[in-house]
Amino acid sequence: VVRTLIMAGGIGERLWPVSVKKRPKQFHKFGSSKTMIEETIERMEKVTDEIIIITTREQFPLMQYYLPLFPGENVIFEPMRRNTAPAIALGSTRFSPDDIMVVVPADHVIRDEESFLKTLNKAIKYAESNDSLVTIGITPTYPYTGYGYIERGNAVDDNEEVYSVKKFHEKPDYETAQHYVQSGRFLWNSGIFVWKKSVFDLELSKNFPDLFSAISEISKRPEDIEKIYERLPKISIDYGLMERSSKVATVPASFYWNDIGSWDAVYDLLIKDKNGNAVEGEFSLKDVKNCLLINHTQKKLAVSGIEGFILVATSEGTLVCRRGESQDIKEIIK
Ligand code: GDD
Ligand code: MG
Repeated sequence: VVRTLIMAGGIGERLWPVSVKKRPKQFHKFGSSKTMIEETIERMEKVTDEIIIITTREQFPLMQYYLPLFPGENVIFEPMRRNTAPAIALGSTRFSPDDIMVVVPADHVIRDEESFLKTLNKAIKYAESNDSLVTIGITPTYPYTGYGYIERGNAVDDNEEVYSVKKFHEKPDYETAQHYVQSGRFLWNSGIFVWKKSVFDLELSKNFPDLFSAISEISKRPEDIEKIYERLPKISIDYGLMERSSKVATVPASFYWNDIGSWDAVYDLLIKDKNGNAVEGEFSLKDVKNCLLINHTQKKLAVSGIEGFILVATSEGTLVCRRGESQDIKEIIK
């Protein structure tokens, strides 16, 4: 049986002032008529037998409001946010040892669905017959420091569609990322993982024994979840397991993938007018070029004589920055 685990507990703080705690980015629409989490569910229904969502307890009302038809028994709530390693480990307790687990983020835009399904099916097939943690790798185009980098080894299947992984490197510094992109041997980690549940257990118990035993404790004493989970470190699956395991494999992908990790990624996604502006909401523009302009307020916004800027206004606040620098806003929001 192939089951999906959707990770939906993040808050997407780099998309302030649209993505905020009371409505994180997976509950927004970006260049589509559906929210990203709805799109994720529909996409995954095409390849898997069942979908389970893992999120934090504080997002319970959001789940009810934005996904009223999604079966409540298929949603797991973490007592508090401890990042993706604890979340995936907790979510994995809903899977049987022989299940194939497909772990996906709730907040990505994927286009070219046929190619996506083909790639994913390759990964599923490989995970069924090999004891590997399978990643989906994206060809990198620039040295972005907000992604994991997959160091590719040799092809491990007859069709040369699956590769061994020498090492997984989460969020390198800029110089290292530059070196990785130039070498041609590295792929971006898409954040999508495929493995047999029994293989995940084995790798977690080897590489992160404390987390493995904490989750086993929770299974034995579910009434103590709060106490046990609270003590877990805040650590992502990338640092907690992928960088440590020697059983990683990768399937290179060629579909359009955008993790909407920043306003620059949103600019990339949206349709531009003849001046290179991506505009949403009401604006009066004069001599404005190559800008991302979003206005979710009732106010009129007049903009003149700028090029290459990002301007986002909502009832929560207003952001103005240069394009290419929107990753840094995490700092000022703090
Ligand atoms: N349930 C739950 N609980 N989900 C969480 C939590 C949590 O505590 N924290 C984050 N998530 C969800 C987010 O909503 C998102 O869907 C997914 O897990 C990934 O978390 P991010 O916080 O967005 O990770 P990232 O973007 O910094 O890095 C990851 O994704 C990149 C690609 O987008 C890594 O896997 C990188 O290696 C990868 O390149
Ligand atoms: Mg992300």
